[in-house]
Amino acid sequence: MPVRKPKVVVTRRLPDPVETRMRELFDTELNLDDAPLKPDALVAAMSRADVLVPTITDRIDASVIAKAGERLKLIANFGAGVDHIDIPAAAERGITVTNTPGVLTDDTADMTMGLVMAVARRVVEGAEALQHGEFHGWTPTWMLGRRIGGKRLGIIGMGRIGQALARRARAFGIAIHYHNRKPVSPRIAEELEATYWESLDQMLARMDIISVNCPHTPATYHLLSARRLKLIRPHAIVVNTARGEIIDEAALAAMLEAGELAGAGLDVFEHEPAVNPKLLKLPNVVLLPHMSSATIEGRVDMGEKVIVNIRTWMDGHKPPDRVIPAML
Ligand code: 8YV
Repeated sequence: MPVRKPKVVVTRRLPDPVETRMRELFDTELNLDDAPLKPDALVAAMSRADVLVPTITDRIDASVIAKAGERLKLIANFGAGVDHIDIPAAAERGITVTNTPGVLTDDTADMTMGLVMAVARRVVEGAEALQHGEFHGWTPTWMLGRRIGGKRLGIIGMGRIGQALARRARAFGIAIHYHNRKPVSPRIAEELEATYWESLDQMLARMDIISVNCPHTPATYHLLSARRLKLIRPHAIVVNTARGEIIDEAALAAMLEAGELAGAGLDVFEHEPAVNPKLLKLPNVVLLPHMSSATIEGRVDMGEKVIVNIRTWMDGHKPPDRVIPAML
């Protein structure tokens, strides 16, 4: 008797090779127009699917999980961050959740370094000035930025992406400091010549560049609160390629506007896709539309991970990228 293929519902358009392979392997329902599913459509998808493949634009909270159909057994997230999914509620319902770690580490670290450079050296401001006809010849004192070599970078969250950023920053002659739940292994600390700060407050007050690289969890929501942002020195810059919710965006915008911080490079926002209107008007910020992991190679690799997770689950094994509530 032929084995029934699992019904897999994909909530957004994925790269063609990923969608094609998913159609070959599973009874796959694609979202051909790419519009994010409305809450009702998401619930409906979760009642007819064995496997849901969501993205960050699907809010799968406890109330949505409570309405999932009996047959939903796997949520194979297309993305590393899982803060849009209530993991404990899914576990309670016996639904396995997987993600796609590792394959977007380098792309995200590259973009983080790009934001550091863009803000410190005024790359976007300069390019825009030129395009607007403001380049009238070389000037000794025009468009001066700040050198990044020799500065101190404080990384908040020293996981895969934090470490990949540290390696890149080292090559630019930047000194590595970090705050994490626990220190990295002595081998990695030595390789990166990294200084560990148990106290985030202590670290913030001493850095020239701050980079947010931790996941968004209840414990990291507004980790950079208005109070903590005030600890950062006025000449410093802040970059965030993790999640907007980790920084109090209104407080950050107010400080940037008041000149209490030199600049910011933000790829993520607290209320995406909305961006604090104050930020949009500032010259000392570089704002990107959540594109740090946006490479063709990375997105195909993410799809490959989703497929491997579904296949191993189908074969009765534990998928490699399970997200366990205790890990959060
Ligand atoms: C993803 C991200 O592309 O993987 C993540 O956590 O933030 C993004 O770069 C997005 O989440 C896809 O769902």
